Amino acid sequence: MTLWHGRFEGTPSSELLAYTQSLSFDKRLAHDDVACSKAHVKGLAVSGIISDEEAQLLLTTLDQVRVELDSGEFQFEYSDEDIHTAIERRVTEIAGDVGAKLHTGRSRNDQVATDLRLFTKRELGGVCSRILDFQKLLLGLAESAEDVYLPGYTHLQKAQPVLLAHYFLAHGWALARDFDRMIEAIDRMDVSPLGAGALGGSSLPLDPDFVSIELGFARRFENSLDAVSDRDFVAETLFDLSLLGVHLSRIGEELVLWSTEEFGYLRLDDAYSTGSSMLPQKKNPDIAELARGKSGRVIGSLTGFLTTLKGLPLSYNRDLQEDKEPLFDALHQISLGLSSLSGMLSSASFDFSRMRRAADSPFLCAIDLAEWLVAKGVPFRKAHAIIGGLVRDSLERHVDLGELVEAHPQLGSEAAELLIPGVSVERRQTLGGSGTEAVRIQLESFRSLILREEILLQPIIKH
Ligand code: ARG
Repeated sequence: MTLWHGRFEGTPSSELLAYTQSLSFDKRLAHDDVACSKAHVKGLAVSGIISDEEAQLLLTTLDQVRVELDSGEFQFEYSDEDIHTAIERRVTEIAGDVGAKLHTGRSRNDQVATDLRLFTKRELGGVCSRILDFQKLLLGLAESAEDVYLPGYTHLQKAQPVLLAHYFLAHGWALARDFDRMIEAIDRMDVSPLGAGALGGSSLPLDPDFVSIELGFARRFENSLDAVSDRDFVAETLFDLSLLGVHLSRIGEELVLWSTEEFGYLRLDDAYSTGSSMLPQKKNPDIAELARGKSGRVIGSLTGFLTTLKGLPLSYNRDLQEDKEPLFDALHQISLGLSSLSGMLSSASFDFSRMRRAADSPFLCAIDLAEWLVAKGVPFRKAHAIIGGLVRDSLERHVDLGELVEAHPQLGSEAAELLIPGVSVERRQTLGGSGTEAVRIQLESFRSLILREEILLQPIIKH
């Protein structure tokens, strides 16, 4: 029997049921739906719409239904269009006429919006906590990298030696922005739509503030039309996950490069690499590649869902049911990505001496030579040209750059010392830069950031 059988003479076609159902995927909202219904029941009792006894019966019935859902005992029926329908049907089966009062003053429109906000707040909090774990891993790697340096790249061409710690922390700061965005998104979505009804509220004396507090929301909706049709929080979550996915993809790309024989900066652990079905010697970085590949799918979910939203008139439209699958999938893929990449990174062994050797080419210190001349009063553009000329000379005549520097009247042996391995990162002291002292200071700020993030997360995770 449908929820609207009174208005209809006929029964729904099998095509309608198959095409419009959302039960196959919105079962994930079961716990939130029970929580939402319990708050609603308490609200109905507080407003005197149902008696305390009726409320008590509904509450124990809802608890029983939750147990049935958890144990797998719950029998879904073909006509259960979605999880809301299924739970209400079962409550009515158990509690009879009192069960039939559950949906008083409520619509699935405000109900599903409430469930999904509860779900998304919690899941996004979970993603934040995974981000934090990943950042702690990066911090640990940065700390253990000590004074190891490697080439920093622009255009994927070797540019300057940078500390490996600086490299790890660069990804850590990008993740800090993801964390921040998600914490803000959680706050923005912390609005209860319950009480908005189908679209316009109710003639019954409902108390949206009461149910909002009961469900742990920070505030209630201000406009019922907006409350049932607003899915900004889904779009925003998909964007935040997409950008996090892009960051993971970039980390993945680096792991792919660094694990090649050509780079050779790291070796992957067997548990986090795959072999080839044909080529016996292969060891492949599939997790890192999928972190790159799956980010495309999450971005697809974002653009797909924005397209779903863009033409919708107020207020609820069934199109909105399309919010769940992309959201669930993006949350799932990004959470898996965070834990898989973190396993891959933490179990990899880094070849520090190979990194150092790759950065020990004197050409990577060309800017240090030019800046040394600047310190002696040579205008930068002239210094750049002098060193550029020496680099060209060195390459064309196959003469070591160090020798040319020693012999140059404006440079000499003091300048040539800049080419000694490790000197470049030691001398670079700009705050926020990749030099030793600057990275020590940066590590301090990153440690305080982690502490701040831990504090911000506590109340969110507790809920
Ligand atoms: N399953 C729907 C959704 O996910 C909620 C039901 C609202 N349906 C309706 N015909 N008003 O959005």
